[in-house]
Amino acid sequence: MTSDNFEPKIVAFLCNWCTYTGADLAGTSRIQYPPNVRIIRLMCSGSVDPTYVLKALLDGADGVLIGGCHPGDCHYQSGNYKARRRVIALKEILKQAGMEEDRVWLRWISASEGQRFADTVTQMTQYLKEKGPNPMKREWAV
Ligand code: FES
Repeated sequence: MTSDNFEPKIVAFLCNWCTYTGADLAGTSRIQYPPNVRIIRLMCSGSVDPTYVLKALLDGADGVLIGGCHPGDCHYQSGNYKARRRVIALKEILKQAGMEEDRVWLRWISASEGQRFADTVTQMTQYLKEKGPNPMKREWAV
């Protein structure tokens, strides 16, 4: 389902040292990107627990972006490798449960790659607009 009016919500878990700083650089460099992303800063992509991702998807996010340092550049040695393994496992679980694993993106974006951050958000927003709203969202009784 697609809608011209649909604006996806993206929750982004970004590591402090690389991707968050890259996002900051995009902002200070006035690089344009869609306002669809809500950023949560963590010290390392390795500290993204899969339950954070699941909760975001169940609580209304249309997509989740996890951003970390490039392989070999993690400030905690191997946190990004841990993140990669966790995301692979999480996507497999989502697939097995019939959920849309392609709503979860993992990207390596360094502190100097403000343009790459902006491009990633732009691509993800466009991708999710074409996919439509997240069917995994819980309908909360009010
Ligand atoms: S510090 Fe950036 S991924 Fe670990």
